[in-house]
Amino acid sequence: MNVFGLDIGGSGIKGAPVDIETGRLLSERVRVGTPQPATPEAIVESVLEVLSHFDWEGPVGCGFPAVIKDGVIQTAANVDGSNIGFDLRKTLQKRLENPVSVINDADAAGLAEMRWGAGRGVRGVVLMLTIGTGIGSALFVDGVLVPNTELGHIEIDGHDAETRASDGARKRQDLSWKKWARRLETYLNRVEDLLWPDLIIVGGGVSKKSEKFLPHISTRTEVVPAKMHNQAGIAGAALAALPEASPQLID
Ligand code: BGC
Repeated sequence: MNVFGLDIGGSGIKGAPVDIETGRLLSERVRVGTPQPATPEAIVESVLEVLSHFDWEGPVGCGFPAVIKDGVIQTAANVDGSNIGFDLRKTLQKRLENPVSVINDADAAGLAEMRWGAGRGVRGVVLMLTIGTGIGSALFVDGVLVPNTELGHIEIDGHDAETRASDGARKRQDLSWKKWARRLETYLNRVEDLLWPDLIIVGGGVSKKSEKFLPHISTRTEVVPAKMHNQAGIAGAALAALPEASPQLID
C-alpha cells in the first residue's frame, strides 16, 4: 500500500509517496520553504504546492512540529502562534479531498525508525529524539508509541532544553561540535535519569554527523544514530496514516 507522506518543519515542507511495506520513497521528495510567518493558512497553501507536483489520489499522512490531538494543533514552539487550535486534518482533508491524518513530527520519525530503522524489533522503552531546529521526542514501550511527549522542553538550569541543546542552538551560537556535545550530554543524562530508557535513538539532521559528537558523550543508556535520516519524517507520517501503525512494530 502507498501513502503520501508530508513532513512540515520550521524551515521546509517536504513530501513524497511512500511504500508502506519498505518505508522507501517512491519518487524523489519535493521540498518548498516553510512560509514566513508560518501561519496555518500559508502552511496549507505550501502543502498544496508540494502535492501539485504529484498526481496523488489516496491517503495522506502529515507530520507537524507540535502537539497534535485529533488533528488539531495544540502548541506552537517553532511555528507561528496562530496555529494553536487550528484543525489541520479537517482543513487538509477538505482541500485535498483525500483522507488525511496528522501526527507530531518526532512521533512520525520515531514510528519510521521503529519499523524500518535503528529501533526495529527493540523491546522495552525506546526514546527517539529528533535534534534539529528544536528537540522532538517519541517514546515507545514494546513498540507502542506514547504520543505527544514533549521532552525537548524539559527545564535544565532554568532554560527550555531545546534552546540550548538543539542543532538550532549549535548553529545560532556557532558552537564547536565538542562544546555542543557537552550540552547534549547534559540533556541526555537528564532524560535518562527521568525515563530509564533501554535505547536512545538520535535523529534529525545531526544523525548524519553522529561521529562528530557521539564520541564525546557519555551515557548509561546505549545511544545510536537514526538510520533513516531525513526520510524518517516523511515515511513515518505516511505510516501513521494506517490505523494499525503502532502496535504492529515488533516482529
Ligand atoms: C515541538 C515539538 C516538535 C519538536 C521538533 C518542538 O519545539 O514542541 O512538538 O516535535 O520541536 O520539531
